[in-house]
Amino acid sequence: MKRILLFILPILIIVTAAFVVFGTLQVRSEEQKLMDELKRKAKAVAEGIDLSAKYILLHNDLRGAKALVEKFQARERLQGCVLYDNEGQIFAITSRFADWREKEKPYIRDILAEKRPRGELEKFKEYSVYTYAVPILDDEDNVLGIAEVIYDTSFVFATLTELWERINVTLIILVFCILIIAFFIQRQIFTLPVQRLTEWFTHFQKGETDELPSIRGKDELGKLASEVEQVALNLRVARRAISDEASARIRKEDIWTEARLRDLIRAKLGDNALFVVSNREPYMHVTVEPAGKPKCIRPASGVVTAINPILYACGGVWVAHGSGDADRQFTNSKNKLGVPPEDNRYILKRVWLDKEEEAGYYYGFANEGLWPLCHITHTRPAFREADWQMYKKVNQKFADSVLEELPKKSPLIFIQDYHFTLLGKMIKEKRPDAAIALFWHIPWPNHEVFSICPYQQEILDGMLACDIIGFHVPYHCNNFLETANRLLECRIDTEKSSIIRSGKETFIRSFPISIDTHFSDKASAESQDYINTIRGEYALNDKIIALGVERIDYTKGIIERVLAIDRFLEKYPQYRNKFVFIHLAAPSRTHIKRYHDLVSEIDELVERINWKHFDGAWKPIIYLKRHFSADEIKPFYALADLCIVSSLHDGMNLVAKEYISARKDSSGALVLSRFTGAARELTDAVQINPYAIEDFADKIKFAIEMPPDEKQRRMRNMRDIVRENNIYRWAASIITELTALTKV
Ligand code: F6P
Repeated sequence: MKRILLFILPILIIVTAAFVVFGTLQVRSEEQKLMDELKRKAKAVAEGIDLSAKYILLHNDLRGAKALVEKFQARERLQGCVLYDNEGQIFAITSRFADWREKEKPYIRDILAEKRPRGELEKFKEYSVYTYAVPILDDEDNVLGIAEVIYDTSFVFATLTELWERINVTLIILVFCILIIAFFIQRQIFTLPVQRLTEWFTHFQKGETDELPSIRGKDELGKLASEVEQVALNLRVARRAISDEASARIRKEDIWTEARLRDLIRAKLGDNALFVVSNREPYMHVTVEPAGKPKCIRPASGVVTAINPILYACGGVWVAHGSGDADRQFTNSKNKLGVPPEDNRYILKRVWLDKEEEAGYYYGFANEGLWPLCHITHTRPAFREADWQMYKKVNQKFADSVLEELPKKSPLIFIQDYHFTLLGKMIKEKRPDAAIALFWHIPWPNHEVFSICPYQQEILDGMLACDIIGFHVPYHCNNFLETANRLLECRIDTEKSSIIRSGKETFIRSFPISIDTHFSDKASAESQDYINTIRGEYALNDKIIALGVERIDYTKGIIERVLAIDRFLEKYPQYRNKFVFIHLAAPSRTHIKRYHDLVSEIDELVERINWKHFDGAWKPIIYLKRHFSADEIKPFYALADLCIVSSLHDGMNLVAKEYISARKDSSGALVLSRFTGAARELTDAVQINPYAIEDFADKIKFAIEMPPDEKQRRMRNMRDIVRENNIYRWAASIITELTALTKV
């Protein structure tokens, strides 16, 4: 529309200006014509009654005078006649014009004196009138009186108004015709060809080359399309070659690396892109106060830590909630941007949610319902119907957003977590050919716990539309199989570990998630400077340093850990002044009361324990409450003699693996809750039950006092596990299974 306006606005302005100029000229000439005619008529009439008036005035014939002036009463347009005597007094007047008597008429005296006729426009009441007055002379040229005829001129203005109206109507009709013609012209020469070209590109982009509408014309658009086709053909051929080389390389290597995963994805997917969907976005633009400048951060999230290296290596599209307050500034018209911002390796597509949607879907159903339901932490889940409705709505919104992007042939979609239990089904309804894996990053509870969820059927149904559902550990797979068996009409194939429902088979697999090599790389100079400041500020040089890193969440066992540290210092006072626990705590989900209260609870507890042990210079807990980037965390891992992960329940826990990966010299010790998925793989960690405070305190001492070679042995073992079972292996296993099952 804007374009049409730009196109026709100048035409409209010229046409309107021409109409105004010609209209004004025509109206002026019409006015002139009408007035001339009126004047001519008035003069003729006034001169025509000259003889009768002379006779009447000579004989002072009042009756004759009245008869003469009243003749004008009957005329169709407002007209009147007045006879004056030789002193300028009214002798007779048409009764319709009786009020004319009141009017000041200075010109009468002039006519009597000059004996010359006079015609002028005058105001009378609300009318404009034209009067023509002639002196009546006797034979000796003496003035007997004056005869005056008066004409109402309003018909002239009425005629002119009518003329203007006709001009305006013509102008409007003309403008309307120009608009229609312009619309059709622009549609024919611009919109339709561009639409065809856009459609062509959309099919082309999705790899639907057999469905390309033909625009092979000889016009400019045809030439452009043909050029793009050539570039794409070259690309396809190059990709095919890369894909063959990739397959050959995969067969040779054993440890999974970024390059090997890239090869696998090229070999398996060819031209197809990988689509990832998660709630949390991998890159978030937030405004940093007080400068008010936007900054790009990596949110504290296990999903982000795990999936980012995969897409970084292989490219693809990641669809996620755009939750940063400055996110919109950095997306294009399709809500997309290339990330990482400094080195675009894949596409991030942001989905916008309003406050109500975020409150119901994310804070409400996902994090006050499903999150506590799946974690055994004795926090009661809340299921509210309104939240559930919003959760469904947002799942549909994400489904629509993903569907827009999918290529024609067998897309591969990788959904993350409990935020999207319905998404697989919604996508399959429109694209049954899509291969979909859902990975559940948190624990799956046993069937009794899950059965309290009022929406259990729809949730399980939604999940079982996927081809593969992955959990971190076999225990959660078994819980899920048992849940489906008990709560749904379905068949379980225990040998294949699959669930068959309404003819659709879904494979349940464990894929222990992991990390890349990022934490074994050197930290930036900036982060090193920061940690040196911390070292100096808290006099850390001769201290035994323990570290905790996490979001502030009740599942992380933060309170229990502080109590255990307190108990450790009570029981083993020789560590007072020698031991420091650094806690990097990222505030999270603070709009939920439970999380909000937890922050205050931790603040108060840390304050109390620090005060209790404070000796004037040393305090045992350094509590740093803010978001830390991965690069900022790195030097803390290097600094820490032990890392304490005390989750009350955790799907995997990647902090444990990050710490191990960062210990390049195999020093250090990991104290790890046995209620984490990681505890099943990292059996050389010092395992604890975070609820058993007494034992927890003893295990801290045990980890500190472990002989150095024992520490080295354990750390080496764990490093081997993390190195081998890295994130590339994790992704490769899921993609290999998915492509094998669905023959992508
Ligand atoms: O494992 C669950 C998870 O989605 C992880 O990615 C991450 O640890 C956490 O929850 C992130 O929470 P949120 O995205 O709600 O901040």
